Amino acid sequence: MVPLKRRKVVASQTGNTGTEGGDEVKFPQVVLFLLERKMGASRRAFLSQLGRKKGFPVQELFSQTVTHVICENNSVEEVKTWLESRGGSRPAPHLLDISWFTESMRAGEPLEILDRHKLQEQQRDESEVVFFSVPSYACQRRTSLENHNAPLTEALSLLAENAELSEDDGRGVAFGRAAAVLKALPSLVTSMSQLRGLPCLGEHSLKVIKEILENGTSSEVESTKKSERYQALKVLTGIFGVGAKTAERWIRGGIRSLHQLRQAGRTLNRAQQAGLEHYDDINQPVTKAEAELIMETVEKAVASVLPGAQTVLTGGFRRGKLTGHDVDFLITHPEEGREVGLMPKVVSWLQSEGFLLYQKTTRNSYLESKDGPGRPASSMDRFERCFSIFKLSKEEETRTEDPQEETGNGDPNSTKVMDKQSQWRAVRVDLVVSPISQFAFALLGWTGSKLFERELRRWAGHERSMSLSSHALFDNTQSKYLRASSEEEIFAHLGLEYIPPSQRNA
Ligand code: UTP
Ligand code: MN
Repeated sequence: MVPLKRRKVVASQTGNTGTEGGDEVKFPQVVLFLLERKMGASRRAFLSQLGRKKGFPVQELFSQTVTHVICENNSVEEVKTWLESRGGSRPAPHLLDISWFTESMRAGEPLEILDRHKLQEQQRDESEVVFFSVPSYACQRRTSLENHNAPLTEALSLLAENAELSEDDGRGVAFGRAAAVLKALPSLVTSMSQLRGLPCLGEHSLKVIKEILENGTSSEVESTKKSERYQALKVLTGIFGVGAKTAERWIRGGIRSLHQLRQAGRTLNRAQQAGLEHYDDINQPVTKAEAELIMETVEKAVASVLPGAQTVLTGGFRRGKLTGHDVDFLITHPEEGREVGLMPKVVSWLQSEGFLLYQKTTRNSYLESKDGPGRPASSMDRFERCFSIFKLSKEEETRTEDPQEETGNGDPNSTKVMDKQSQWRAVRVDLVVSPISQFAFALLGWTGSKLFERELRRWAGHERSMSLSSHALFDNTQSKYLRASSEEEIFAHLGLEYIPPSQRNA
């Protein structure tokens, strides 16, 4: 704010073309007007005074005599609209950027107007502003882990998560798709105009983006984060074995925290009991190093029960992520049929070696004749599968990471003194066994991301009239299965460019 006193002085100069205070007019051919908008009143007053001192006529109020309008941070549209609201001016004054003014001040005379001095932002903007274009299905685009728009995608992902926790899957998918589009952009979004024509950005998502671009935050995101309901849903679904439905039921029964859950004496199933017991560990991200240690153990188990069987790390780690919420493995054997009965043996081995804190194995229930074309595109596959909580020794971890760590303490009792936390941690591990004939489909299906998978299936169905699952690809037009022994072949069947795992982080 300009002090009242100064304002009065300014007002007294109204209409004054000349040089209040007796400054000599050296350049009567230029009549300047400095636009206050965005420049601010005090800076304008300062610059006006400076201009007058240098012998430039500077008008306080706009009039037909003005030849040069000086603007700072205004777009040409803005200034033209403003000029029109003043009834226009003939001949039209030069609309100039502040750079012409400051350079002229430095030179002590009005400089020749160069292109770069003119407010031509519209044209300049159009060439400078990056317009984005991305294909509409996430499986048609490359999405690396490098995200140039994290504040926007995190906000939209939070709204997606909240919708999913509230069992509003439609909304969840819509926000998820919008976030995925922004993740695929090659640079930072700075204005709404850059988003014109992009797919999957609905009204609601655009509103959230606009608010963040203008204010830095979205009121909806902030209020969601603060809401008791969202916080309770997050805490409760953080328990392994607890989904949105169960959490919702508990919340309705007045349970909002782990403490309240323990107090309430609810009957928990075996998974939930284990989930509650290992809550902190399970909610702590798993590192790549930890995943690799677990991989060694799983490979050892697999090799000892079925030599020749192969283990692949899938999920987020295969996409190059450095942390994950669990570790996913896919196991197969190069000879079809040899994998039958493999899972119980692997699980027994791991169990007998004390690696499993919890496990639940489901049998392979996939039968091509029954499940294929008749029951297409289910996201839930029917492989022989083991959901487990793995006991990862931290000693092993520290030995691998830092050989010095253990040697310092000679006290043989020291490990007994150490609490549980320092000796091992619980990690969620998923094991899946696939016959080799379905391996490529299983690998593609288990590499994710979840949105990438959903989009692959949507593409297959809507654009190719095919049904894709983690078991097979069925062509509805030809009424036949399309075989594949690599992910590349599946992309080719689908008429899609091959996207490597590191670019599937949609
Ligand atoms: P995850 O949930 O483990 O996701 O499923 P992620 O990408 O590895 O994420 P983080 O890093 O653990 O947090 C991995 C893939 O397995 C598929 C999912 O669709 C995802 O693509 N999957 C998961 C299935 O196909 N079926 C399931 O029952 C579960
Ligand atoms: Mn995972």
